[in-house]
Amino acid sequence: MFLMSRMTGRSFLFLAVWMQSVLNVQLKVSPHIVLIVADDLGWNDVGWHNSQMYTPNLDKLAQNGVILNSSYVLPVCTPTRSSLLTGYYPYHVGLQHNVIHSSRPSHLYMNFTLLPQKLKELNYTTHMVGKWHLGFCNWNYTPTYRGFDSFLGMYLGAEDYYTHSTGNSTVPGYDFRFNKSVYHEVTGEYSANVFARRAVDIINSVDPEKESLFLYVPFQSVHYPLQVPKKYEDIYSHIQNKARRTYCGMVSALDEAVGNITNALTQRGYMDNLLLIFTTDNGGPVNHGANNWPLRGSKNTLWEGGTKGAAFVYSKTLLNKTKYVNTEMFHVVDWFPTLLSVAGGKAEPDLDGIDLWPTIQSGVPSNRSMFVYNIDEIMQNAAIRVGEYKLIEGKPGTHNGWYPVPNNQRKHFNNQSILHDIGELKYQLFNIRDDPTEHFNLAITYPEVLKTLKGYLEDFKKTLVPAFYPKGDPKSNPKYYKGNWSPGWC
Ligand SMILES: *[C@@H]1O[C@H](CO)[C@@H](O)[C@H](O)[C@H]1NC(C)=O
Ligand SMILES: *[C@@H]1O[C@H](CO)[C@@H](O)[C@H](O)[C@H]1NC(C)=O
Ligand SMILES: *[C@@H]1O[C@H](CO)[C@@H](O)[C@H](O)[C@H]1NC(C)=O
Ligand SMILES: *[C@@H]1O[C@H](CO)[C@@H](O)[C@H](O)[C@H]1NC(C)=O
Ligand SMILES: *[C@@H]1O[C@H](CO)[C@@H](O)[C@H](O)[C@H]1NC(C)=O
Ligand SMILES: *[C@@H]1O[C@H](CO)[C@@H](O)[C@H](O)[C@H]1NC(C)=O
Ligand SMILES: *[C@@H]1O[C@H](CO)[C@@H](O)[C@H](O)[C@H]1NC(C)=O
Ligand SMILES: *[C@@H]1O[C@H](CO)[C@@H](O)[C@H](O)[C@H]1NC(C)=O
Ligand SMILES: *[C@@H]1O[C@H](CO)[C@@H](O)[C@H](O)[C@H]1NC(C)=O
Repeated sequence: MFLMSRMTGRSFLFLAVWMQSVLNVQLKVSPHIVLIVADDLGWNDVGWHNSQMYTPNLDKLAQNGVILNSSYVLPVCTPTRSSLLTGYYPYHVGLQHNVIHSSRPSHLYMNFTLLPQKLKELNYTTHMVGKWHLGFCNWNYTPTYRGFDSFLGMYLGAEDYYTHSTGNSTVPGYDFRFNKSVYHEVTGEYSANVFARRAVDIINSVDPEKESLFLYVPFQSVHYPLQVPKKYEDIYSHIQNKARRTYCGMVSALDEAVGNITNALTQRGYMDNLLLIFTTDNGGPVNHGANNWPLRGSKNTLWEGGTKGAAFVYSKTLLNKTKYVNTEMFHVVDWFPTLLSVAGGKAEPDLDGIDLWPTIQSGVPSNRSMFVYNIDEIMQNAAIRVGEYKLIEGKPGTHNGWYPVPNNQRKHFNNQSILHDIGELKYQLFNIRDDPTEHFNLAITYPEVLKTLKGYLEDFKKTLVPAFYPKGDPKSNPKYYKGNWSPGWC
């Protein structure tokens, strides 16, 4: 009798614990996803690649997460953002050439379903804070019409960090919105602070136990113009080169902003069920203070310096393997299906992106064995990767050298005179595994490999959607919209 009751008590306890764990599992919402994109951040501009950089918050996340060492992006802003949000290469969405300039009526075509729209189907709350740069000439092309519950930020690609206006370089105009409305409350305040505060407000407005949050934070930092509050620049007072000193300060301001966001995530209880992704949108522009050493080239080139992105993922609970450098092949186009998979959904099979969650989660070999760096029929250049080989067709860009971190003596380290003359040689071939810094063109040494890769490239080109690159339209002028860059002219 005594034994019986003891057994029953114990069984009951087991049952209760079991029930509770089942309930916990059932009640748990899909993982929160925080996707932070830095703008124009070079390979050598983060603390985990370069000890000159002061990025303690990012370093801590990277070192406790998974550092992605073969994570590729497009050479400039708009194409990368189009891939990130559609799961297609830019040459399949018509945004492979250059960026969307403020007066051009181009945009991300409406026939693509964007990542936040897919996540909304999975009941996510979706918010965007930062730089859009995917077209705004019609309301239908703007963030709150394309899957985001709210938007605070800028439609254009570059502007003053404090006035939030495009200055004299182009047509003057104010470019800052909260949802659809022009937002003047933050005039005079540095954008990294504005964006971090809004992100924290969103984090505090959501109950992480009850709803899943997708927070997309593409910072303006550290794109030119080179501007930062003095205290961040002062961290680098030993650097004589003014552009580099300011740029490094901008990186540290960005780091503090990320720290504020992760502190809020921790305090509010997100960390047990969250995936954080941090990536640059393209390589660093060496003519605006950035650095990609030892990689070759710059932003806006097909070299590794323009396309191999600084990136990591962090999660306290969702990764099977952490604190290591993952060298598996990954492309920005893969985030779309990968994040849908994390969210419990599934992407259409015809996407260019591949679900690489097993590789991110556990470090198993990547299912990706090739990718397209870009195909730009207007520039008449292209590059592809097949296994360890990289084929470049045409001129890769205008900054074709290797640019060391500017030292204290040289005032102008941007050496435009290192012009790359490929002469009659239309194709270049590199073995990226053995020669990640692209010193040795193997096009003549390995004619068979060259032929194979040219075949792949011709195949890729067959599905090219022509670049959507219309002429600038004077109707875009902010003078018609009370001094604001505004939808309504296409
Ligand atoms: C990461 O990439 C850099 C640049 O290509 C390379 O020098 C380094 O060896 C790589 N790290 C690992 C662990 O493969
Ligand atoms: C998307 O729309 C554009 C412009 O209307 C069109 O050129 C393109 O073929 C469409 N793409 C797909 C995948 O439907
Ligand atoms: C989303 O929420 C609705 C309403 O609560 C529910 O009917 C639906 O099953 C949910 N969808 C998913 C994918 O969880
Ligand atoms: C923007 O939209 C969000 C979500 O609907 C809302 O919470 C917020 O108050 C809006 N902001 C403004 C300034 O209207
Ligand atoms: C910018 O434009 C304004 C108005 O035309 C002019 O007064 C100002 O000097 C210009 N600033 C610069 C830096 O060119
Ligand atoms: C981070 O938060 C602190 C405390 O609220 C604030 O003083 C600081 O300006 C914030 N930094 C950024 C870059 O947003
Ligand atoms: C990672 O861990 C999860 C949960 O423990 C497990 O279900 C999954 O199979 C693991 N994935 C791999 C590729 O090891
Ligand atoms: C690779 O793709 C196949 C086919 O979709 C899938 O079954 C497999 O799990 C994937 N493996 C990894 C490591 O992602
Ligand atoms: C720029 O590069 C060229 C070619 O490598 C070199 O001769 C020249 O000295 C460099 N100039 C500076 C200022 O570093």
